[in-house]
Amino acid sequence: MQHNINTICVCGAGTMGTGIALCAAQHGFTAIVFDINPATLASSQASVQQTLRQLLAKQKITAQQQHDIFNRLSFTAHLQQATAPLIIEAIVEQYAAKQQLFQQLATINGHNCIFASNTSSLSITQLQAQIPHPHRVVGMHFFNPATLMKLVEVVKGQHTSATTIQTATAVATAMGKTAVQCTNSPGFIVNRVARPYYLEAMRLLQQGVATPQQIDAILESTGFKMGPFKLMDLIGIDVNHTVSTQLWEALGHPPRLQPAALQQALVDAGQLGRKTGKGFYHYQPQP
Ligand SMILES: NC(=O)c1ccc[n+]([C@@H]2O[C@H](COP(=O)([O-])OP(=O)(O)OC[C@H]3O[C@@H](n4cnc5c(N)ncnc54)[C@H](O)[C@@H]3O)[C@@H](O)[C@H]2O)c1
Repeated sequence: MQHNINTICVCGAGTMGTGIALCAAQHGFTAIVFDINPATLASSQASVQQTLRQLLAKQKITAQQQHDIFNRLSFTAHLQQATAPLIIEAIVEQYAAKQQLFQQLATINGHNCIFASNTSSLSITQLQAQIPHPHRVVGMHFFNPATLMKLVEVVKGQHTSATTIQTATAVATAMGKTAVQCTNSPGFIVNRVARPYYLEAMRLLQQGVATPQQIDAILESTGFKMGPFKLMDLIGIDVNHTVSTQLWEALGHPPRLQPAALQQALVDAGQLGRKTGKGFYHYQPQP
């Protein structure tokens, strides 16, 4: 599959942006990481270095590869440097923020620049609204951790062109991913199918039927790689809760998909999972 993209700009240096940029650099792309928060950029850079050190220690990469991969990455808080033929945004899960970012990027990038969103739950069709040349807006939904998880949902919004879909698919494939094309709909495929996994687990917990440890252990023993509570802590309690809320609203408030009050309480308490050291479980700070 053909594409002529060498450089990718990843907007958002959080959990997903860091993983997507590192994955791109590991597969030979130059990656510019843009974030409005300099502290997040510093931790993103440190996390990339730590991952590369671990890969070297496990002899998965050579010292030369460690050096080359890191040198293909740059980190910036200056929007003017966010220029590339493909932008993948992984910023906060809000329409207004993502649309404003794409509008700003449209003023400094050519009209052929592809705007991909890593959104988990927002409508690609709605994100295209008010963006100049909306045919170049597409969903590229990576999974966490983005360096390891093979799937990318390539999501076609109402106005997305066939060429944009083809390029996004080709780039995802070149990043070592399995790209699955789908049409825009609430939660796309994986998040729609997976929602009851989280919500029913939290109902069981709220009803006092079992603890997170028990529920995770049972589901893992039946073949799931991660139980729902460990997975929510990895994803981010806030991110997971936002996805549940968006999906519930987009589908017309079905009772079986109603977001959990328990999860809202954790968000309010700032217990967001691994990234804050505390969610359903407690975590030691990373060295
Ligand atoms: N966490 C997951 O497991 C997961 C999986 C798939 C998709 N996603 C999606 O990926 C996106 C990011 O999620 P995350 O978990 O990485 O979030 P995160 O909170 O870890 O990171 C978001 C980053 O975006 C930055 N940011 C906010 N506004 C910005 C702007 N205008 N310009 C540049 N940077 C900005 C923040 O400073 C922060 O560093 C969301 O849309 C989320 O739904 C998340």
